Amino acid sequence: MLDWSEPKANPAIVVDPVVVGGVSADATGLGAIERGGARVSVDDKRMINARADVNQLLPLKYRWAWEKYLSGCNNHWMPTEVSMQADIALWKSRDGLTEDERRMLKRNLGFFAASESLVANNIVLAIYRHLTNPECRQYLLRQAFEEAIHTHTFQYIVESLALDEGELFNMYREVPSITDKAAWALKHTQHLDDPDFRTGTPETDRAFLRDLVAFYVIFEGMWFYTGFAQILSLGRRNKMVGIAEQYQYILRDESIHLNFGIDVINQIKIENPHLWTRAFQDEVRGMISDAAELEAAYGRDTMPRGFLGLNAALCEQYMHFIANRRCAQLGLHLSSPRRRTRSRGCRKRWT
Ligand SMILES: [Fe+2]
Ligand SMILES: [Fe+2]
Repeated sequence: MLDWSEPKANPAIVVDPVVVGGVSADATGLGAIERGGARVSVDDKRMINARADVNQLLPLKYRWAWEKYLSGCNNHWMPTEVSMQADIALWKSRDGLTEDERRMLKRNLGFFAASESLVANNIVLAIYRHLTNPECRQYLLRQAFEEAIHTHTFQYIVESLALDEGELFNMYREVPSITDKAAWALKHTQHLDDPDFRTGTPETDRAFLRDLVAFYVIFEGMWFYTGFAQILSLGRRNKMVGIAEQYQYILRDESIHLNFGIDVINQIKIENPHLWTRAFQDEVRGMISDAAELEAAYGRDTMPRGFLGLNAALCEQYMHFIANRRCAQLGLHLSSPRRRTRSRGCRKRWT
């Protein structure tokens, strides 16, 4: 029983909100409510360090982010909709796959199985907190669910083929060519995980951009693409067609994730041109170049002798093409004016 006879003070009023320049400066949206605060103006909305209330989706400012959210919803799929019967028969058949194809397939699955979780953790624990725009957060929520579906895919494959779950999911800690990539990406998100980390200075805003480049442009936009090529190459020869179909759906999702990340980075550049210095551009080129080298090592490890239609040298060549395409999407053209007239890719020249 409760005693209702005594009037009580309003229990909702606990602390005053943080107000800077007459508007709320609560980046997470979980701070105290600014009672009677002004309605949101589109002009106050920003990708990072926004002054506008992050809890109000409307009015929309970045329609491209909303469109990507709608596209993600329209692409909805579940891994269990795909039949694994042909894959199970081929996997169990002694002559169904060569030893080289089995090695590539297992390491490819092992790379993706952990990577989907790493990407999801980065979205939920680092990116979401510091991206201060509600329509972008709406897309991040959709993307986070899609990463969960992708992790589900690897659980479904392991179960269907009766693979060793520990071998596959722990591969990112046991196989050096996979560990090296995960460790390289994680070093760019670890300091954002610091509870005291805040954007708002050139140094911390650039740290946030490094995280976006490492995960959206490199992890999802470069490394995943070798993985797709490997499995789709099997699928073209009518091998592991169920997994190949699932990878086609993952590829469709990841293409939007990548393009969202590129749009976010380019919009932050527009709103904060002081961050995109020549030195920082060179640093991003260096990140993309290092990532291509790591991927070449992964290609040699997963395909030491190659197999019909694909080998490590071809994958390295493909990665150079992809790296230059990502550079162009970020506006990273060749540094020297002479070279700029000949190519629109990274300063790095692969010959
Ligand atoms: Fe994914
Ligand atoms: Fe993704």
